[in-house]
Amino acid sequence: MRAENVEFTARAGPTTYAEGAAMPWDDVWTGDCVRLLDQMPAGSVDLAFADPPFNIGYEYDLYQDRRCKDDYLGWTDRWLAAVRRVLKPTGSLWVAIGDEYAAEVKVRLDALGLTMRNWVVWHYTFGVNCTKKFNRSHAHILYYVVDPKDYTFNADAVRVPSARMTTYADRRANPVGKLPDDTWVLRPQETEDHFRPEGDTWYVSRVCGTFKERTGHPCQMPEAVLERIIRVATDEEDLVLDPFAGSGTTLAVAKRLRRRYLGIELSDSYVEAIRERLLTVKPDPVKPLSVPRRPGVRRTQAAGLKPR
Ligand SMILES: C[S@@+](CC[C@H](N)C(=O)[O-])C[C@H]1O[C@@H](n2cnc3c(N)ncnc32)[C@H](O)[C@@H]1O
Repeated sequence: MRAENVEFTARAGPTTYAEGAAMPWDDVWTGDCVRLLDQMPAGSVDLAFADPPFNIGYEYDLYQDRRCKDDYLGWTDRWLAAVRRVLKPTGSLWVAIGDEYAAEVKVRLDALGLTMRNWVVWHYTFGVNCTKKFNRSHAHILYYVVDPKDYTFNADAVRVPSARMTTYADRRANPVGKLPDDTWVLRPQETEDHFRPEGDTWYVSRVCGTFKERTGHPCQMPEAVLERIIRVATDEEDLVLDPFAGSGTTLAVAKRLRRRYLGIELSDSYVEAIRERLLTVKPDPVKPLSVPRRPGVRRTQAAGLKPR
């Protein structure tokens, strides 16, 4: 079944929770996020990650991803305001969006009184091949905070080795590495799990059909992208919200990193798949994302340079 207008097709979600009652976190709710977010207490979320439909005609099972511009932007206003209301005063909001609406979303985030910290570009290498324009290989992730003077930013949880360490064998390199740039290619040396000594570049592609983490959802985000966001912007036990849960990537990573989580998803079949995915996720002992390494003498010599 296809939905022309999501507001009319949203499923009945959980009933309203009494004010002051403990919220049932670590769950995924079925229904329209605007309506369900209204049932949450204001100021309860530490990190919201939103990857809404981009309005470019993606094939979802229920949601119709081609609406007229005014309709799409009116709906964007509603869900952004609903997410804004539930953010804690120390919270952050990260919105993934395509080229078509990135500018409009940025203007709306500013208008909500939030402060931009980064306009991240996530560069991926597996996308649709175009014939009459260049292939798209990026999405935007707009990173905003409620209070620019008081928000969680765990720099040490996401440091990466610098080029001074990995390439130039420069002993002046800061031994704890550096913060990642705002263009995310997530090279192998930047994630412990993805490092392979035989290759020196590995871009986080979109999750393609052959990947082990692939769930079957049409636009599943890679766990590596969410891992960086959740590690830097939350502490253990903080509450992570994803109002467009999709395949449940945000929730799976939050659970693995021992954060509380709440997802909202319109499609009950996607929700069913998320629940199954979450059953397979075990909370990990939290460890640093990357282990600083000594300068890459071997590679420097291979490149014809002398270690300093
Ligand atoms: C781009 S996908 C999210 C993908 C997700 N980030 C992942 O990694 O799997 C957008 C999702 O939003 C859902 N959706 C659309 N309208 C919605 C609404 N009003 N409330 C909740 N979910 C909605 C769609 O069914 C779709 O699964």
